[in-house]
Amino acid sequence: MVNSKSLRQPIICFRPIRPSDLEILEQIHSDLFPIRYEAEFFENVVNGREIVSWAAVDRSRPNDENDELIGFVTARIVLAKESEIGDILSYDPLKSDQTLVYILTLGVVEAYRNLGIASSLIREVIKYASGIQTCRAVYLHVISYNNPAIRLYKKMSFKSVRRLQGFYLINGQHYDSYLFVYYVNGGRSPCSPLELITVMLSYMRNGFKSMSARLWRNDGRKLSKWSKCKETHCLISTNQSRRNITAAECTGCECV
Ligand SMILES: CC(C)(COP(=O)(O)OP(=O)(O)OC[C@H]1O[C@@H](n2cnc3c(N)ncnc32)[C@H](O)[C@@H]1OP(=O)(O)O)[C@@H](O)C(=O)NCCC(=O)NCCS
Repeated sequence: MVNSKSLRQPIICFRPIRPSDLEILEQIHSDLFPIRYEAEFFENVVNGREIVSWAAVDRSRPNDENDELIGFVTARIVLAKESEIGDILSYDPLKSDQTLVYILTLGVVEAYRNLGIASSLIREVIKYASGIQTCRAVYLHVISYNNPAIRLYKKMSFKSVRRLQGFYLINGQHYDSYLFVYYVNGGRSPCSPLELITVMLSYMRNGFKSMSARLWRNDGRKLSKWSKCKETHCLISTNQSRRNITAAECTGCECV
């Protein structure tokens, strides 16, 4: 791994993540994150299966290391109507093809922090999302105590739109997450009175739906399923429907 003392003037370049990055990608994820990701996640990243990615490498390192990952971002495209933030976009139900880019993971190895690498990686994602005509926003979750990441997103003009209680389940302990959004291509949160009424009606409709669904479900069975869903989300974070369950069950969501 990288030794900070051996750093000369770095020459940072960005490229897609490739199959040859598999081992180091897994290693960095396990070093940086408190949750474990499934092997399938890494396979999908390196093979570009439904996941887009950017790697940061330092070309100033010796030959055998100058293509080695020192930072990365992974993301996937999701349909706005199936996402948990469909309600906060000024979303046109007639345009069912509207999409979002969801950032799955972002990391920079310690020796290369505070050089603007994560900011550049996020800019790559924003540029990519802006180039997709149907895309309305880039969004992500961040655990509530991750202050460096929260500062970074705020600095990059992401808006914190919700706090999701108990969103993460790590080693049996629940942690809240913030949901950050960056609007692109004219996507924005609804602000006209009519749009706000539409959003409230949609909330109420979803509320009724989930209440009637609960009446049909066995409570005990639901509880164990619920914990499992959250744990699974932490492990891979790629299944949109699982996340919908999580968001729907959270109380205390904040819209800003
Ligand atoms: C969060 C993280 C990706 C930032 O990477 P980075 O390359 O250092 O970020 P940048 O250099 O682009 O920093 C941009 C801003 O982030 C903030 N920041 C970054 N590291 C920070 C730290 N250690 N303490 C406080 N703020 C920090 C600062 O606001 C900084 O702005 P500045 O340039 O005005 O100081 C990196 O710390 C990391 O990999 N952390 C572990 C994994 C992680 O938490 N990923 C995010 C999960 S949502």
